[in-house]
Amino acid sequence: MQALFYELSFNYLLKKLIQKMALKQIEHGSNEYLQMVNLRDSVLRKPLGLTFSHDELLIEKNEILIVCTEEDKMLGCCMLVKVNNDTLKLRQMAVAPNLHGKGIGASIINFAENLAKDKGFKKMTMHARDTAIGFYEKFGYQIIGKQFIEVNTPHHLMEKLL
Ligand SMILES: CC(C)(COP(=O)(O)OP(=O)(O)OC[C@H]1O[C@@H](n2cnc3c(N)ncnc32)[C@H](O)[C@@H]1OP(=O)(O)O)[C@@H](O)C(=O)NCCC(=O)NCCS
Repeated sequence: MQALFYELSFNYLLKKLIQKMALKQIEHGSNEYLQMVNLRDSVLRKPLGLTFSHDELLIEKNEILIVCTEEDKMLGCCMLVKVNNDTLKLRQMAVAPNLHGKGIGASIINFAENLAKDKGFKKMTMHARDTAIGFYEKFGYQIIGKQFIEVNTPHHLMEKLL
């Protein structure tokens, strides 16, 4: 009985969270950008003993910055970089660790792909960490070529025609 109560409460809270979720493009240098960098730092860099350099963050001015928020909380993010007139590269996909497996990553990638299509791009690529390959495969991305190392971590190039 108590377990059922906890499950119903959890589902209620989850529904509330998803109802308030917003997906949007943000400005470089804004408060939301700083929150995004904090999330990326804690999910993608600190676990590897790395951090972002000033120059690395500066060039992000030219990139499409996408976040998923709930009121003032940063739930997840990714960035899109122009490779050529047809292709965008998705990078820095991260979801807050306590929220993995709740569909936030899926919402972000769907939003990013729709944005890319609206802007006339035909292909999305990414350097996928090997631990995230299964996630990208769910959305139709395919591995291209051999494994390589980036930020001390095994990766594969993946791509999808939009
Ligand atoms: C990878 C990541 C972005 C996925 O986000 P998420 O919100 O947890 O994913 P979702 O809940 O939207 O999952 C969507 C589907 O992908 C699956 N999935 C999620 N992460 C997966 C993984 N690492 N491997 C295989 N499948 C995965 C889910 O089970 C779900 O499948 P279903 O639709 O059959 O239920 C998130 O786990 C994360 O931030 N990981 C750490 C950082 C990272 O590795 N980023 C990618 C760098 S290339």
